[in-house]
Amino acid sequence: MDQDNYIRQLLHFLKESPTVFHAVHSICRLLMTRGFTELHENESWDTRTPGLYFIRRNGSSLVLLSLADDDFAGSGLRIAGAHTDSPALKIKPKPDMVNHGLLQMGVETYGGALLDPWFDRDLSIAGRVTWRNRDSSISSALIDFKRPVAVIPSLAIHLNRDANEQKKINKQTDLVPIVMQHSGEDSPDFAAIVREQLAREHNIREAEILDHELFLYDSQPAATVGIGQEFITGARLDNLLSCFSLATGLVDAEKPQNSLIVLNDHEEVGSLSTSGAQGPFLRSTLERLIPDSETRQRCIHRSLCISTDNAHGVHPNFADQHDKNHLPRLNMGPVIKYNANQRYATTGRTASFFRVLAEQADIPVQEFVMRSDLACGSTIGPITAGAIGIQTLDIGVPSLAMHSIREMAGAKDGWHLYRAMRTFFTAAHDQNMWQCLAE
Ligand code: CO
Repeated sequence: MDQDNYIRQLLHFLKESPTVFHAVHSICRLLMTRGFTELHENESWDTRTPGLYFIRRNGSSLVLLSLADDDFAGSGLRIAGAHTDSPALKIKPKPDMVNHGLLQMGVETYGGALLDPWFDRDLSIAGRVTWRNRDSSISSALIDFKRPVAVIPSLAIHLNRDANEQKKINKQTDLVPIVMQHSGEDSPDFAAIVREQLAREHNIREAEILDHELFLYDSQPAATVGIGQEFITGARLDNLLSCFSLATGLVDAEKPQNSLIVLNDHEEVGSLSTSGAQGPFLRSTLERLIPDSETRQRCIHRSLCISTDNAHGVHPNFADQHDKNHLPRLNMGPVIKYNANQRYATTGRTASFFRVLAEQADIPVQEFVMRSDLACGSTIGPITAGAIGIQTLDIGVPSLAMHSIREMAGAKDGWHLYRAMRTFFTAAHDQNMWQCLAE
């Protein structure tokens, strides 16, 4: 894959992945075309080596396994992680409401969304629907309206003269999207709208909608921008850019070593769920892959986890928000993230490993540490390190407008990350690199 190819495929992946469910589905489709077999958690596993496998949980988290041999105690696992979810507006269970001749839908905010950019966008709806068929069987499927079907209009400046000085957003009352004109004769019925979409997309007739997990998203697809097409803008770059770079880095790696990628849901809301990084997904996968606990512990202590999540690039209009010696720039390579208080899991040793890896992959590296007078965010790295006891480092591509409905990153950085990960999973490594992790 070359850089143009990488960007084209990344933009396509982002378009096909408006929700966490769609993202996992898109990656699974890629894996199946590349020879991976699905293992189901409720069945017995036959993980012969060499072999390529994946396991999904809740349709929103995913583990990828690329097994070269069964010498887990001798060679460890090359592990990488990222999160599949992004802040969004989620449609409430009973969303319908009619106000002034308009059908509107109640929404909950999911995660720490930057809310202001959600106004005046052509929004679409996607997610997972569960229904009962005529024969009483129950099914789930993904739907995606694909076209703009909702909008949250701003209040005109004439009715809110202070809007440019101080805009406050009430999540309950200000963020209610309009979805259609309503004559007032029949009562509103969101389930009927979902049922029609199910029929359109999956040819399912007479479905009794039992429940839904639907999100609003920006119908404007991700794009390259800049006079020289230097940048990418789009929703969910945090953290689907990482998911894509990790997964493609593994499937494109030549002769990969024993490798594992974990892509977790619910990072944006604290990671505690069956499929989140604080849940048992990775631990139970390792226990089933390596049932003998002595062998498993030896493997864990010969392994490294690279946790990948976007970093804050320096914004030229707000450079004061960064420490002046740590100013990650777009297109200048992945960022190693440091935090003395363990909001990031990076150690001097794991960072050193990555610096040598970056040399091998011929990519640049940058550093980020939060200003000492600002609170630092976190990610799945410290959670995974804490749960499994594995040496970990946190990295990510620099980006701007994190958690906006349209984020921005350098077009080269995803490509840099892809190359770093492809090198990480590849067999031939300098043994000195692994020595720097030895206890
Ligand atoms: Co993130």
